[in-house]
Amino acid sequence: EKGGYDYFMLKEIAEQPKAVADTLLGRIDASGSLSLDEVRISPSELREVDKVVVVACGTAFHAGLIAKYAIEHWTRIPCEVELASEFRYRDPILDARTLVIAISQSGETMDTLMALRHAREQGARVLAVCNTNGSTIPRESDAVLYTHAGPEVAVASTKAFLTQLVACYLVALYLGQVRGTKWGDEIQAVVRDLSRISCEVERVLETMEPVRELARSLASKNTVLFLGRHVGYPVALEGALKLKELAYMHAEGFAAGELKHGPIALIEEDLPVVVVVPSPRGRSVLHDKIVSNIQEIRARGARTIVIAEEGDEAVVPYADHLIRIPATPTLLQPLVATVPLQVFACELATARGNEVDQPRNLAKSVTVE
Ligand code: F6R
Repeated sequence: EKGGYDYFMLKEIAEQPKAVADTLLGRIDASGSLSLDEVRISPSELREVDKVVVVACGTAFHAGLIAKYAIEHWTRIPCEVELASEFRYRDPILDARTLVIAISQSGETMDTLMALRHAREQGARVLAVCNTNGSTIPRESDAVLYTHAGPEVAVASTKAFLTQLVACYLVALYLGQVRGTKWGDEIQAVVRDLSRISCEVERVLETMEPVRELARSLASKNTVLFLGRHVGYPVALEGALKLKELAYMHAEGFAAGELKHGPIALIEEDLPVVVVVPSPRGRSVLHDKIVSNIQEIRARGARTIVIAEEGDEAVVPYADHLIRIPATPTLLQPLVATVPLQVFACELATARGNEVDQPRNLAKSVTVE
């Protein structure tokens, strides 16, 4: 049932190109229109939406953080992202014009379920992004877009995360479409880029041997830091979460721009720091800033592990280890940049003798608050 892999996690990492392609399949027609699976939210209601709030936990929350960049950029609707466990306890401002997106692989996470119930009580519309057909969260939502990742068995979420991203991009494009915002050349181009992305994920998977080697060489370390900017920041958080739950190492993700506001004090000789570098094309200001961040931490002794686009030569002098990913549009980069971090955490867990599919103290679905 593991299909020749030692662990479900490895199998599920390998299944990501297919999971991504399946989640896109049949959802966008030739004119660029998206269809949701079950919708009790009409296009006219979606045109009225004046705020989007994403609620989720753990890895799904990281997908939500990335969704915010896409939703605000493509639709110009303000978007907040909140941990489901915090959401209802702060008396959030919600009404019939709020669209709440609840992201959950299992569809049974109690924190997320309680958040969406609270949102509906306040009159908000709820759209579920979910991987499990007929589970509680989609049943209790006004609409659902299923992620077609197939069953995810390993406790650590991998393919579900990539498909949550794809689903969120689709929702953002759909909102843009029904509202007529920015609908046009840019969105058409994104749809085309998305349809090619599963091949890029495949290409990343083919080049992971050096990442495994690197992970094994770090097995005796205690701490790994992760830095990113823009959509690379949630990717850094996700890389750190994977390492905590699988390798039981101290790992933290930071927004690279925050370094000088505190975290740079943590940098010491030979500390591994993974940096997710934005594309040098597009938002090149961010790229240049992160290159100087890499220089800064390296000057203080950090061992820099740099994830950068193919052809990005500016990072080469400052990278102790360089992990290449294919060039993608800025907003889509998390689909390729997350994969090496999953492989890294999985290999470190194995090297440290940990149980990869069943990390200690964790359950696949958390059905208590
Ligand atoms: C991390 C992980 C968890 C889940 C979280 C939400 O690898 O698997 O952080 O992402 O418990 O679960 P779902 O998506 O089922 O609501």
